[in-house]
Amino acid sequence: MSQAQPGMTKTQPGMSGAQPGMGMERADIAFEVNGAAVSVCVPPVRRLSSVLRDELRLTGTKVGCDAGDCGACTVLVDGEPVCACLMSAASAAGTVVTTVEGLANGRLSALQASFLDHGAAQCGICTPGLLIAATALLDSNPNPTEAETLDALGGVLCRCTGYRKIIAAVMDAGRFASEFLTDGAAPHPPAGTFSPYNDGEKGQVSAPATPSLDFDRRMPISGHAVGSSPIRLDGLPKVTGGEKFGGDSFPAEALAVLVVRSPHHHARFAFGDLDAWMKVHPGIVGVFTAADIPGRNCFGVIAPFADQPALAEDFSRFRGEAVALVAGEREAILDLDLADFPARWTELPHVLQPGKAQASGVQPIHENRPANLLTSGFVERGDPDAALAGAAFTVSGAIDTSYVEHAYIEPEAGYAYMDGDTLVVVACTQAPYMDRDDVAKVLGLAVDKVRIVPTATGGGFGSKLDVSLQPLIGLVAMKTGRPAALAYTRHESMISTTKRHPAEMKATIGADADGRVTGMVFAGDFNTGAYASWGPTVANRVPVHASGPYATPNYRAEGRAIHTNGPISGAFRGFGVPQATIMQETLYDELAAKLGLDRLDFRMKNCLRNRSETVTGQRLESGVGIADCLEALRPHWMRALVDADAFNSANDSRKRGVGVASCWYGCGNTSLPNPSTIRVGISAEGDVVLHQGAVDIGQGSNTVIAQICADAVGLPLEKFRLKSADTAITPDAGKTSASRQTFVTGKAAEKAGRALRETMLRFANVSEKAAIALDGASLVIHEGEATRHIDLSTLKADADGLVFRAEESYDPPTLPLDARGQGKPYAVYGYGAQIAELEVDLKLGTVKLIKITAAHDVGRAINPLLAEGQIEGGIAQGIGMALMEEYIPGRTENLHDYLIPTIGDVPPIETILIEVPDPEGPFGAKGLGEHVLIPTAPAILNAIRHATGVLVSKIPATPSRIRAAIRDKEPRR
Ligand code: FES
Ligand code: FES
Repeated sequence: MSQAQPGMTKTQPGMSGAQPGMGMERADIAFEVNGAAVSVCVPPVRRLSSVLRDELRLTGTKVGCDAGDCGACTVLVDGEPVCACLMSAASAAGTVVTTVEGLANGRLSALQASFLDHGAAQCGICTPGLLIAATALLDSNPNPTEAETLDALGGVLCRCTGYRKIIAAVMDAGRFASEFLTDGAAPHPPAGTFSPYNDGEKGQVSAPATPSLDFDRRMPISGHAVGSSPIRLDGLPKVTGGEKFGGDSFPAEALAVLVVRSPHHHARFAFGDLDAWMKVHPGIVGVFTAADIPGRNCFGVIAPFADQPALAEDFSRFRGEAVALVAGEREAILDLDLADFPARWTELPHVLQPGKAQASGVQPIHENRPANLLTSGFVERGDPDAALAGAAFTVSGAIDTSYVEHAYIEPEAGYAYMDGDTLVVVACTQAPYMDRDDVAKVLGLAVDKVRIVPTATGGGFGSKLDVSLQPLIGLVAMKTGRPAALAYTRHESMISTTKRHPAEMKATIGADADGRVTGMVFAGDFNTGAYASWGPTVANRVPVHASGPYATPNYRAEGRAIHTNGPISGAFRGFGVPQATIMQETLYDELAAKLGLDRLDFRMKNCLRNRSETVTGQRLESGVGIADCLEALRPHWMRALVDADAFNSANDSRKRGVGVASCWYGCGNTSLPNPSTIRVGISAEGDVVLHQGAVDIGQGSNTVIAQICADAVGLPLEKFRLKSADTAITPDAGKTSASRQTFVTGKAAEKAGRALRETMLRFANVSEKAAIALDGASLVIHEGEATRHIDLSTLKADADGLVFRAEESYDPPTLPLDARGQGKPYAVYGYGAQIAELEVDLKLGTVKLIKITAAHDVGRAINPLLAEGQIEGGIAQGIGMALMEEYIPGRTENLHDYLIPTIGDVPPIETILIEVPDPEGPFGAKGLGEHVLIPTAPAILNAIRHATGVLVSKIPATPSRIRAAIRDKEPRR
């Protein structure tokens, strides 16, 4: 470490006056914000977004790119929506600025109310920008059409919702103006009051579950929480700007941290004179390298494969790898240019494709992994070679997919500080307990000396399962004794964090003359990048799922995770299954064509049923809902085919196509333990306190888990207060991934709720048939004609303030896979199928989506509105994967060159919720989060082929690839 001497002048956010030697001249700039006159003394070129957030602490305005690409920073300036990141402070002088904090004006605006009512905010990071853009629209046009809404909101990206509920909320806002605001609504509480997330202060914020608004009308009565769609319990701060994400609560005295990263795919490096460099950069407090790491400089989500250094040592293995940290006063860091940082780089040969990485003579990226093979997964059943040889019809194909970036709107952000001898890390994450273990290992601390406090997380989709900045800011805090804060730029988020695995797949499927699938072989190479991350999970999960939800008696599938010097591939909604499903479902269409069968009928004929055996030999006794999903789609399928025929007979240059695809997905870890624990209790004040450690990254677990627990205990949801994840307080509810929270944590919540109920009934000495209620600080017991009141305030409370409590765990019953991949990898599967309708311009290769119809078997829809939101959001990501998203290192490292679906790219979505209960799930529920994007891309590709006769075999199917495929098929002149 190189560290400046104590006594260096510190600067504080919000200070005024120029700082000698610390960058640009400042000027006093006055303007109006949310009705109040303000004056700041900042460099005139400072971004307005930075002034609002860092000087005025109006953190409702979000920053997702600092480049005008995401719209998260949208504010009104003199009534017009502008990107605050593109406007200088000087330009704001004399203007009137409105931020999201200014919309509520003592009560929710009609638009904010409509957003809550429609479930238009999931993670909420995009919500302020959308609310501002929509406010500008509604101010001039109170009843916009859908086209006008799309036009007005086109500059604001959302990665979670699929936009449809946002469109509905904007167009429906007028209804709330008359029904809500004129109805004497209660004033809303101060922003942030109801956030269940800790903002880093000691102790957890306990959140009243129910805002005292007219939305109480949506609160279910006792015993009917499951199946209802209350306003999400953590919804209010998402629409007021009060929600605190990773970058929203940095302590004023925190050091700012910059990360020095490799500019090369593969390089040797050495540092020059770091002390001398610091001396010419006033305000820099320390430079830290791998040599400063006190623990084991190696982390990873799957312990036996852990291989990634927090800071690279001597060699970097991918472009964007962290090699050093620079910590300094905020103003010094803001103005710092790392171009002269003393690192000497020697570029080394690199490989970016699995095929090249496996070529003979190529130096392995990790010495202990010959031929760059990280690991492989394998499933074999029956005799696939004989089955294919004897099949009446066979089809074969090969498909490649690309790196897909998660592109959550919130880049990684957080801060760390020392609390005595405990390191506290306050950051966005999907996996607080895994973060804790990795940070402790890297920093050489005992696990109980690291506390992870998740902030609200502005999207994750798998990537925030891996630690990113946590050990880095932890290192700075430990070494300097000062809080250390870091918010990744969009660019460094994209170059340094994980991606969806690019896949190179081939498969053959055979069927008998009756149209029954008799055999399948599949092989997929998955580019896992420079480090392991979730590569082993992908390699193992893919072979289990590559059959799709179809009976396949003879089967062999292999998934291999292969290292390259590309970006690290990790978890991304589906863990490789979306890629494998593209291969299988596109071949199913070809096979149906050869058989002369309707494509939906062919799938119905082969889909798994109750008592079917899967390719791992697992007998599915009940709860298999794929046939129900496909059957629910049938009328839509028939109508869509007729529509397409009619359209095509009237058009030559544009053709309409219809595609269908299915999915299945095992919920939770593959043949590995993944328990969740839930604690719930009754406080002396008469609240139900739910310690809910499952991180809600927008999918709704804060609400869904509470709904399950409410019905299990038999008390109304409105009595619930949440204590969200904090490794020092809440029990471990595992990671938010693999569609496990509703199923696994939900089951733990169900068990804990029932146990709490039993405890109270036993205390009252009544039978299990008794009804219970809470009336103020009284527990009210009704049995028969008798009613008893128990004064809770007279009972002894424990350290958590609970007078009754229960804590229960649940771990799904699975069995390991044997050498042939036979076993019971998952306790519960979810199923789904989707239809895509689209038009292709044959000359341009462009695709216009007309409609997606999605039928998903969720077992039991705990919260139908949230389930719909998950489906719409997953479909939007599937659209991106199918048609536009391709991360290319060095070329698409921002949201300008890397395209994700905008509000204009997502067509109407019709959701059909199928409920085939699984006895293992809480109230029969299955997982949903991963499933929902799996069928989208293959349904779109099948629709493109239906429209054009060509299958694009390199995904995404961009216009140039579609056009090239059409051209290749055209007869040569
Ligand atoms: Fe301003 Fe993205 S932060 S547009
Ligand atoms: Fe829009 Fe998460 S809700 S990005």
